[in-house]
Amino acid sequence: MKVKLKIRKFEAKKDTLPSYKTYEVEVPETATLLDCLDKVKWYQDASLTYRRNCKNSICGSCAMNVNGRTILACETHVKHELTVSKRNELIVEPMNNMPVLRDLVVDMAPFWDALQAVEPWLQPDESKVPEKEYLQSKEEVHLLDKVAGCIMCGACFGACNGREAEEKFLGPAALARAWRYTMDSRDARQKDRVALYNEPHGAWDCTHCFFCVEVCPVNVAPMDQILKLRKMAMDAGMTNNPGARHHVGFEKIIEKSGWLDEVKLPVVSLGFNLIGQLSMIPLGVRMFTKGKMPHLIHTPIEKIKEVRDIYQLAREEEKQQRKMLAAAIERKTREKL
Ligand code: FES
Repeated sequence: MKVKLKIRKFEAKKDTLPSYKTYEVEVPETATLLDCLDKVKWYQDASLTYRRNCKNSICGSCAMNVNGRTILACETHVKHELTVSKRNELIVEPMNNMPVLRDLVVDMAPFWDALQAVEPWLQPDESKVPEKEYLQSKEEVHLLDKVAGCIMCGACFGACNGREAEEKFLGPAALARAWRYTMDSRDARQKDRVALYNEPHGAWDCTHCFFCVEVCPVNVAPMDQILKLRKMAMDAGMTNNPGARHHVGFEKIIEKSGWLDEVKLPVVSLGFNLIGQLSMIPLGVRMFTKGKMPHLIHTPIEKIKEVRDIYQLAREEEKQQRKMLAAAIERKTREKL
């Protein structure tokens, strides 16, 4: 089959503007995007630059964007991609949220810096160093399996909306890794870690866009781990920050009226922060002049009772789960004695 690729070309060193170049390659129907790029590089344009290594979705080198979506080139079948995108060509670009060095190669320093910031190494209690090695039960290992499988391709980081809006946000991969070390039974700094990840630009900066879950090639589901970190912070009483206040405020407003009070939520989220509150005034004025001001009078919806019943059910379920968890921990402790 013939495949048309429109590839973004750019060389940071040459200080020129990016441009797009179209190539056409003849490949078998089973070809991956990486096969096509290899063909272009080997037979048409040796200057085309991209990363690749294992060709097996293991090394994480070949993450890039195709038709605006972050993927691994070595596991993306071009025939399938052309069919689902309903296009006659593939637009191939480097990942977002990282500076482009050349063509499809990005500088991954921001990704590694974020990872480093969560202290992704074991920090056990040094007064209890075992003679030989730290042992873990099968269950303790399995708990970490999913996140430990991360191949560090950076796809989630490149696709992250939160990172696009705030370049200090640690991003999905680092926070998923943060959860992994927080939950590691050999680590002794759970409380300090939760506090660290609860700081500005940590777990609360996630905007729930789900892109990290969607693009992760090994199903780490980073956003799920970020939500768990948030819950741990809330359970530990770390609620005095805009993220936690936003969460609590959102929950309370919906329980009270069944729909979001967009006037009240930012006020609640900012808390007693006069400068922050005043900084909202220009936004309010802009919204008013554009006719986007939400209703100032916020009345409950007709079926508010049903909403409150859902809350009640969720609370009972959570209580039940906590009871079961406590019983399991007690059982385990008894077994160990
Ligand atoms: Fe290793 Fe694609 S080349 S993951």
